[in-house]
Amino acid sequence: MPARLDAPLKVTGSAKYGVDHNFPGMVYGYIVVSTIAHGEIESMDVTAAKSAPGVLGVYSPFDPLALNAVTMPMFGETWIPLRDRQVTYVGQPIGFVVAETFEQARDAAMLVEVAYRELPAVTSLEDGLATAIEASPGHVDAPPTLSVLEDGVESIEDAIAASPVVVDATYRTAAQNHTPMEPHSAVAVWDDGTLTVYSGNQGAHLQAMELSMALGLEPAAVRAVNPFVGGAFGGKGRTSAPAFLAAAASRALGRPVKASLTREQVFTATAGRAATVQRITLGAERDGTLVALRHDSWCSTDTARSFIEPTSHGTSREWYATRNLQISQRIVPLNLPPTTFMRAPGEAPGSFALESAIDELADALGMDPIELRQRNNSLAPPGKDLQWSSKHLDECFRIGAQRFGWADRRPGGRTDGDWLVGMGVAVAMFPALRFPASVGITLNADDTADIATSGADPGTGLLTVLSLVGAESLDIPADRITPRLGDSALPPGGMSGGSTATASAGTAIMAGAGQVIDELLALASAPGAPFAGEEVTYADGRVHGGGRSMTFGEVLRAVGRPSLTAVGSSAPGEELTKHSFSSFGAQFVEVRVHRLTREARVSRMLGVFDGGRIINDKAARSQLSGGMIWGVSAALHEGFEVERSGRLANADLAGYLIPVNADIPDIEVEFVEYPDTLHNDLGARGLGEIGTVGVAAAVANAIHNATGIRVRHIPIRIEDLL
Ligand code: MOS
Repeated sequence: MPARLDAPLKVTGSAKYGVDHNFPGMVYGYIVVSTIAHGEIESMDVTAAKSAPGVLGVYSPFDPLALNAVTMPMFGETWIPLRDRQVTYVGQPIGFVVAETFEQARDAAMLVEVAYRELPAVTSLEDGLATAIEASPGHVDAPPTLSVLEDGVESIEDAIAASPVVVDATYRTAAQNHTPMEPHSAVAVWDDGTLTVYSGNQGAHLQAMELSMALGLEPAAVRAVNPFVGGAFGGKGRTSAPAFLAAAASRALGRPVKASLTREQVFTATAGRAATVQRITLGAERDGTLVALRHDSWCSTDTARSFIEPTSHGTSREWYATRNLQISQRIVPLNLPPTTFMRAPGEAPGSFALESAIDELADALGMDPIELRQRNNSLAPPGKDLQWSSKHLDECFRIGAQRFGWADRRPGGRTDGDWLVGMGVAVAMFPALRFPASVGITLNADDTADIATSGADPGTGLLTVLSLVGAESLDIPADRITPRLGDSALPPGGMSGGSTATASAGTAIMAGAGQVIDELLALASAPGAPFAGEEVTYADGRVHGGGRSMTFGEVLRAVGRPSLTAVGSSAPGEELTKHSFSSFGAQFVEVRVHRLTREARVSRMLGVFDGGRIINDKAARSQLSGGMIWGVSAALHEGFEVERSGRLANADLAGYLIPVNADIPDIEVEFVEYPDTLHNDLGARGLGEIGTVGVAAAVANAIHNATGIRVRHIPIRIEDLL
């Protein structure tokens, strides 16, 4: 069995993604987007577009498709295109042209003339800071402003004032887009009142639910099929504009419709990561003990305020033991594309600020940054006081320091020819969560088994995890298991988001396997069955009793059953009242800055992670090294360049910089493996998102070590190091 079941299909190009599906009579949709940042559409002249060759339909707010408003449990309101004439950012979908061919649809879309009544737009976070508003409690899982003060301390200001050493600095992080390799796209087909939508996403049952609400259909009338996902990272959690538009147009026209965003549209017609401004004040004793930690955050959001990047809550609330803590979270609505979950939302930009500030404090104290972190190791999140179920961060640092050669680090770095060389570290943490999940386990008469759930594998390796955990739970070789994912008709799995999938689906598999084995044993020992009336047990894929054994397939054949299915479910429960749960890691980075050109290059990286039990070593390492690369990207490359007008100047993969192989050194990933069965029966915690957390700070800290220059924003560019 390959380490990744889907790998051969993907690397040979034979994996069939949603948009690769074709149907007889299929037609093509092309999305028209806005060209102003704020205003109202006064009119849309679609005469020329409508009479262009091959055009079947031109839809707009004046001639809309039948789509309802949608509010989803947990996620809130879903934005549905063409429902009103308001424009709130450049690149917002405002029209949809359907034609016999893709080229005809695209050409006709260029003929649509739009007249706007423009309104003033706010397109930079700095401009919006003055009118920032407090996040609402529903947006973060705690009051937006949270204060934990020790007895006798009146305010966080008092605690800071009483601290012998204080660091007070403001950090900035750029807005980003997920830029998945597979643009958001969909193929919609109606058959006898039932809609099937093929589209890459992070949870097929959630897409089916959103589509059924938008189209006013019974949930059973919509099937979402999600065979492969070409990158998601939070950006395909919600149903995309092409899916809503293709589904509704297909209903209107009675033809299958295919629609895909262009690469440029992916940057605006989806949602990305917020830009942030974060002020951190640390007060400490001279021995490094934290007296006070204050973290005030501002993040950009869209005008509908649909998502908050919870930087303060994602880091300072939990990462360090401190006698006094105050965090706040404010939002700044902007006329820019919507914001949403993106790989480690909160923690990724939050850790840049917090872990830079900790490094600055280490500097101010003349203390080793690892020692400072260990001195303030949190045993339980302040104010929550439930101890971590299993935390081995000290061991991550110990192993990492030894392997990385941390002892060779010198204040002020070292030189190697024309290169200034420095080392930096940072903590990585990401909460260990799981979602309710159901998984169907089917034993077949040919001694194979199916493991099926509606969840998604957006490149994370869940498909292989189903096989591995299924094999272990059913005590059979993994190559006898067929895992199935990505179809809302399957039992509702958790979504692949929040680094939850392995823990959620894995626990449900264990439950389902237990059930199906119980049912098999009952079947085997029932009157007339091969083990009638005998004591039976299950091991090795076989039923044992009376000194004999039969495979489960033999038992099923003997009783005339083609298969036996049980659906196992799991959900978070009582454990949440007993412990706090998180994955942990230590990030080590070596950076070289050229003495003359000032280019910064990451030359070595090591991440040591404590993520509970590792189910698939290779896939886990891939997730983490991929995350670490993303961290380098955030540190040195990625970010929206927004013109005053609100237009993105770099909405393509030429101008939106991401690392290429030449930017990335050998990356080492290590694990300290302590199965966390207090979190779930499988003992695995999340590993998807933590890889990126802390990396940008470790890079900035290494740059400071190499050059003495403290850059308090990312991405860090040559001009910052002159
Ligand atoms: Mo997660 S933000 O869905 O990678």
